[in-house]
Amino acid sequence: MEKKFILTEKDFILKNTNTPILHNGSFTCKSPSNIALIKYWGKSELQIPKNPSISFTLNNCHTITTLEYSEKKSSSQDFEITVFFEGTLNEEFKPKIELFFKRIVTYVPFISNFNFIIKTENSFPHSSGIASSASGFSALAMCLMSMEKEFNSQITEEYLIKKASFLARLGSGSAARSIQGPIVVWGKHPEIENSSNLYGTLFPFKLHPIFENYHDVILLVYKGEKKISSTVGHNLMHEHPYAKQRFIQANDNLSKLIEILKNGHLNSFISLVESEALTLHAMMLTSDPYFILMKPNTLKIIEKIWDYRKNNDSNICFTLDAGANIHVLFPDEEREKSLGFIEKELLEFCENNHFISDNLGKGAEVIS
Ligand code: PMV
Repeated sequence: MEKKFILTEKDFILKNTNTPILHNGSFTCKSPSNIALIKYWGKSELQIPKNPSISFTLNNCHTITTLEYSEKKSSSQDFEITVFFEGTLNEEFKPKIELFFKRIVTYVPFISNFNFIIKTENSFPHSSGIASSASGFSALAMCLMSMEKEFNSQITEEYLIKKASFLARLGSGSAARSIQGPIVVWGKHPEIENSSNLYGTLFPFKLHPIFENYHDVILLVYKGEKKISSTVGHNLMHEHPYAKQRFIQANDNLSKLIEILKNGHLNSFISLVESEALTLHAMMLTSDPYFILMKPNTLKIIEKIWDYRKNNDSNICFTLDAGANIHVLFPDEEREKSLGFIEKELLEFCENNHFISDNLGKGAEVIS
C-alpha cells in the first residue's frame, strides 16, 4: 500500500478489525493550529477544497486531547461520546464530534465498538477568536490513529500521518494541514508532487533559511463569536460571482509562493501574503449575502503596519484568517524591533492588550 505515493479514499479503509485486542486505555496527543498563507475558501462535499492552500504550522497555539476508550458491553452502532473541555463537561462540542465520527466510521470502523471520553484543552484562551477546529480535530485524529496502530501494527509512519491528516480534514478542512510542519500544502497542485485534495503534504522543496524561524504574533482584536461561521462562508462560494477566478488565482498564487519560499524574496512574500488575506475578506464582502468579519481595529492595525513598513527598514506584514484578529509575520532577524513596534503601536488596538507570540512548529505528536 505504501508504494503508491498518492493514496485514495479506499486506501484509508481499515480492514481486519475482527479481533480487537484493545479493551480499554487512552491516548494523549498534542496538535497545533496553523495559519494559511494561500487561503482555502470554498469546498465541495466532505471538505474537498476548491483550490490548494499552504500554511505555516504554529508552535505555541495547540490543543492537547486525551481519548479514553472502553469496549462497549453490548454492540450498537450509536457513538458513545462524552466530552470534557478544559476540565468541564461540554455538550456544545458533542454534535460536531458525532458528525465527525459519522464521517470517519468507514475508515476507522472500530470506533463503533467503544465508549469514548474525550478530554481536550487549548494552550490559547477560550473565546480568543482563535479557531480551535484545526488543532482540535488534528489532535483527535492523531489519537484515533494511535488506536488504529494497535489494531494494525504494520502501518508505516508515513501512512499514519497521511491518514491522520485525511481524518482531520473530515472534521475541519484546515485541520488537514496541522499534522505536520513547518509548512504544509493541502490540495492538488501541479508543482507539488504527490499533493492531494484528501490530505496535507509537507512543502517538498528546500526552504530558504529566512523562513526557517518565521514569527507570527497573533493580535486579538475581537474575542467574541463570529457572526458567520466558516462553514457558511465556504458555502457562499458556490454561487459567488468571482469564485471561478478566485480558484484560478489561488493556484497561480501558490506557484508564486513556492518560488518565494525557495528564493527568500521577502518583498514578494509580503505583497502576496497580504493580497491573499485581503482577497479572502473580499470574497466575504462580495458574497450574497455579504458579510464583514474585520473590525475597525483590524483596519487600524493594517494601516499602522503599512506605515511602519514604509518608514522603516522592515519586512513585517500581516495575514488574516476568517475573523477580525491579525497575524503579524516577520523573520527572526527582525524579532526584537518588530516586537517593540507591536508593543508600542499595535497593542492598544487589541482587546485587553492581548496578543500571542508564536513561531513555526513541527506538527502533531503523540504524548502518551
Ligand atoms: O477549516 P475551516 O473550514 O474552518 O476553514 C478555514 C478557512 C480559513 O481559515 C479562512 C483559511 C484557511 O485556509 O485556513
